[in-house]
Amino acid sequence: MSNHPPRVAIYPGSFDPLTNGHVDIIERGSRIFDQIYVAILANAEKKPLFTENERVAIIREVFKGRANVQVETFNGLLVDYAQRKQATALVRGLRAVSDFEYEFQMALMNRRLAPSVETVFMMPDEKYTYISSRLIKEVFMLGGAIAGLVPPVVEEKLQGKQKARR
Ligand SMILES: Nc1ncnc2c1ncn2[C@@H]1O[C@H](COP(=O)(O)OP(=O)(O)OP(=O)(O)O)[C@@H](O)[C@H]1O
Ligand SMILES: [Mg+2]
Repeated sequence: MSNHPPRVAIYPGSFDPLTNGHVDIIERGSRIFDQIYVAILANAEKKPLFTENERVAIIREVFKGRANVQVETFNGLLVDYAQRKQATALVRGLRAVSDFEYEFQMALMNRRLAPSVETVFMMPDEKYTYISSRLIKEVFMLGGAIAGLVPPVVEEKLQGKQKARR
């Protein structure tokens, strides 16, 4: 008897670009929630490598086979966006203790702002625990191999950016 309203979650981030760590968390989230919105924070970084539209397109491409994964951008307070989506959960990934302090602060602030929205933490497969978008960009731009750490479409798009810079 699962006569509950759809369980909607938001997975917020900058996703500049999407990594296999993000993909792992999105897949886990999409298995326990009816609907998961990957929400790209607009204007978070002053100089993102990928535009908002490029980031949306990449994530949509990777999850085109998953009907319950939606991709959008949002502005302003995350909890306001979550409430507009009638979401009851915020999904965040935890890689290591280093993520904890910031995530702890954000979770408690968001709870204070919107007590009905619960933050849910998930751990990725351990092979992705050291990956961040920043590290991927840095290694790639210096010529290091990133295959297996990002979806193939991200590797392609990174190559495009590199060519544009030369
Ligand atoms: N490899 C990973 N495994 C699990 N969760 C991750 C991973 N990378 C990021 N996350 C989580 O995804 C969410 C969005 O993070 P964000 O967009 O900042 O990604 P990031 O890889 O940390 O990027 P940046 O290096 O630009 O900070 C956060 O909850 C973050 O903890
Ligand atoms: Mg980060």
